[in-house]
Amino acid sequence: MRVGILTSGGDCPGLNAAIRAVARLAERTYGDELIGFIDAWKGVIEERSEMLDVSSCRGILPRGGTILGTSRTTPYQDAGALDVVREVTARMGIDGYIVVGGNGSLSCAARLQRDGINCIGIPKTIDNDVAGTGRSVGFDTAVSIATEAIGRLHTTAEAHDRVLLLEVMGRSAGHVAVHSGLAGGAARILIPEVPFDVAETADHIARRHRSGRQATIIVVAEGAVPAEGTWEIPDYQIDQFGHRRFGGLANLLGPELERRTGIEARVTTLGYVQRGGTPTAYDRVLATRFGVAAIEAAHDGDWGSMVSENGGLITRVSMADEVENRVKLVDAEMVGIVDQMAF
Ligand code: F6P
Repeated sequence: MRVGILTSGGDCPGLNAAIRAVARLAERTYGDELIGFIDAWKGVIEERSEMLDVSSCRGILPRGGTILGTSRTTPYQDAGALDVVREVTARMGIDGYIVVGGNGSLSCAARLQRDGINCIGIPKTIDNDVAGTGRSVGFDTAVSIATEAIGRLHTTAEAHDRVLLLEVMGRSAGHVAVHSGLAGGAARILIPEVPFDVAETADHIARRHRSGRQATIIVVAEGAVPAEGTWEIPDYQIDQFGHRRFGGLANLLGPELERRTGIEARVTTLGYVQRGGTPTAYDRVLATRFGVAAIEAAHDGDWGSMVSENGGLITRVSMADEVENRVKLVDAEMVGIVDQMAF
């Protein structure tokens, strides 16, 4: 079999571990040829690729980023691009692609499958918002980086009796905020799933400080939203792919809370630190299991499926039925725990 592999969308730790696992099984177990496309679909359209095997993937397991590069280009962006992808796929004799991607990339893979290009998905994103899987590659690493940051913020917040806000990524889902906030013992976690009231948040902080607590850590998901009519924030920018560009909420909220409470507030935006560097052991193992499962799915002819983590087991789901155009939000149980832990 000739299999193409590409990493698409925002990078995250663990992509190389997935590529390496696919390369090992492809060569050793199945005798496949594995072709890595550079910069995702852009590399297919421009015919930039390299052969991948055990030896070319040596040493990449702990490396962040992706040896293949990534882009947000899709075959649906420019007229004629889909035909180019079809033509390149046929000429190179590629049976199908393993697409390591987040929501957008896997929705695109589901559409490509309908259009006759075989695809199997591996979910990756620090946001953990891909539907149809409990975990996506990269999430565990981002949570551990954010948790460590909260631990560091605690000591400086206590020393100065300050309110410290930490903004974390996640787009319109609050998974990174919830997991790092709970693990780090944040006083308050603001997530997109539960619009917040700025006046109530300020009251909460003032109450804490009156009762003698000397540090308040507030974790702010970048996509958190004020409850309607409570506080106006400027509209988000839209990027060239039509996606909302998040980031900056905590910079607005910090001064507003300081103004309302009279307590000094400082803001830290964690940004791309969450996406960079070496993956945790969990993400390395998850990516490896997903890589193995993806090449097995290709040999089972289960095109159109995404490998998924479900209660610790690796299974497969249909991208068209369970992933395409969906976003997995923080569930009611976790929202309840966040609420109970706010103090
Ligand atoms: O999807 C992952 C993510 O890191 C989001 O949490 C964040 O909003 C976005 O990517 C920013 O990515 P970029 O600046 O690369 O578009």
